[in-house]
Amino acid sequence: MTNTSVSNRPFHDFAQTHRPALDEVLSKYSTYSQDCPAELQEAIRHSLLAPGKRLRPLLVLMAADACGSLSEDAKVAACAVEMIHTYSLIHDDLPAMDDDDMRRGRPSCHAKFGEATAILAGDALLAQAFQTLADGLPAKMAARCCSILGFAAGPAALVGGQVADLAFERDQSEGNVEFLQAIHRRKTGALFLASLQMGGIIADGSDEQMESLETYGKKLGLAFQITDDLLDWQGTSQSMGKRVQKDREKGKLTFPGLLGVDESRSQAAALIAGSIEALAVFGDRAVRLESLANYVLERNR
Ligand code: IPE
Ligand code: IPE
Ligand code: MG
Ligand code: MG
Ligand code: MG
Repeated sequence: MTNTSVSNRPFHDFAQTHRPALDEVLSKYSTYSQDCPAELQEAIRHSLLAPGKRLRPLLVLMAADACGSLSEDAKVAACAVEMIHTYSLIHDDLPAMDDDDMRRGRPSCHAKFGEATAILAGDALLAQAFQTLADGLPAKMAARCCSILGFAAGPAALVGGQVADLAFERDQSEGNVEFLQAIHRRKTGALFLASLQMGGIIADGSDEQMESLETYGKKLGLAFQITDDLLDWQGTSQSMGKRVQKDREKGKLTFPGLLGVDESRSQAAALIAGSIEALAVFGDRAVRLESLANYVLERNR
């Protein structure tokens, strides 16, 4: 990865340590019995094991670590959230949604395996995420994590945000910042927040720590989608591993489209500064979450 500065070094070090182990566990989770048709397994692995940034799973691990302990349980929740995220990307790329033929530097799932298999690969990952939590965590923790992840993936969060995003594109109605923030908070922010909450719960974080993670997560999630909008506007397909300059073409409501590049950048920077401020209760244990926030602002992929 390029673009490494001192401020995001602890993030890169942590990611370099933990990404290979996460990928290994995800590979085990996506090795199925013979009852899973070979083509379905191949489609799932094509998308799940592609080189994603793994930010949501890393957030689970970092939140657990900040609250005191990075356990095997945190890795279970980390994989579950990556399954939800990957399912959402597979469906987001479908012709009925954003119609994208490239993802994570590869042909998108439907471009390679056809629409029906891509839809079903997404469905499979959505179901498996909850099974992973239920089978892999102690009962009470599993129930809490299922509730958090279910909310974040559900109608008033990720799916609701996706519907609002597509409705705007279709109807081309009048957009404003509050409306756009509400889309971003649901379609993207909710899963960031859920990742941090699961990490905190698994490490038995205090009320104060959970509150701090919540404030951090809300600001970080919104900033992340603003930078995604900016990278669609200004980034390159080669570094992003997906098509760029599609949002404008499709008439999506985005931050640069609504406020211009400079104002979007300064709003993202203010959110990142606010997210870092919210970490004060963690003292030195916040260094990695802080560093990840800086990375989100500076990223080029
Ligand atoms: C892409 O998320 C979808 C958005 C919410 C903008 P990422 O940029 O985290 O995608 P991967 O996981 O690295 O591929
Ligand atoms: C995707 O937002 C959000 C979800 C997948 C839930 P985008 O449509 O902006 O993501 P990219 O740009 O295709 O990765
Ligand atoms: Mg989309
Ligand atoms: Mg998209
Ligand atoms: Mg985008």
